[in-house]
Amino acid sequence: MSIWSVPLQLARTLMSTEFKLESTSQGLALRWLKEPKMLPLRIDFCNGEHAARAARASIKQEAIARACGMHKLKQPHILDGTAGLGRDALVLASLGATVGLNERQPEVAALLQDALERLTQCDPDLAQRLYFAGSDCFAANFKPAQPFAVVYLDPMYPKGDKVQRAAVKKDMQMFQQLVGTDHDADALLEPALALATQRVVVKRPQHADFLGGRKPTHQIISKKHRFDVYLTTTTPAM
Ligand SMILES: C[S@@+](CC[C@H](N)C(=O)[O-])C[C@H]1O[C@@H](n2cnc3c(N)ncnc32)[C@H](O)[C@@H]1O
Repeated sequence: MSIWSVPLQLARTLMSTEFKLESTSQGLALRWLKEPKMLPLRIDFCNGEHAARAARASIKQEAIARACGMHKLKQPHILDGTAGLGRDALVLASLGATVGLNERQPEVAALLQDALERLTQCDPDLAQRLYFAGSDCFAANFKPAQPFAVVYLDPMYPKGDKVQRAAVKKDMQMFQQLVGTDHDADALLEPALALATQRVVVKRPQHADFLGGRKPTHQIISKKHRFDVYLTTTTPAM
């Protein structure tokens, strides 16, 4: 995808912000105009550290895969409700899930769609299991073509969060500046529970409150994160 195929209204918005989408030989890239020395942000599902991590992932070793029930659910259809840079979704798809990406931030959505297009060239099989589902899959009128067994949520952590301050990599600084905080994250849990036939999984910092103040059915704790799992068949009403 080039800048010229981004819808006109989005392109106008981008021109007026501190970020600029550019078409490069390596795909669409987002430049932070205030930080000209910073490498532009790109999403690459074919090469680099995230593609390598996904390629060597195993269900046993990936806490996210266990949280999503991939050891029990055979090749589940998952909605990544907060897709971001698609890193978690890539791991899940590499492990056999079919993952729909929901992303509302227009620049990030454009980067994702560009990366998906390039994935069809380097790994057509994987590309069949990873697709852009939309920007508002939690809207009341959204009807998925196939039901989602799992809805996965990883909203942006609040600013000033200890985890966020501790170790923010350069590329993530730009991402955080662009996206900001998902202040409405608590409101995602109810529509996610309504969409998922089996479970909702929420990635949180270790010390964070439960999303929407709601206690999960169980938790999977990894070194860096906590995954709160809500089984939709057994989740009690609030
Ligand atoms: C922390 S990032 C997700 C990172 C992602 N898990 C990854 O592996 O790259 C959160 C993303 O969710 C998006 N988001 C938050 N709330 C959303 C909503 N209601 N609908 C769609 N996207 C949302 C934000 O724009 C942001 O890009």
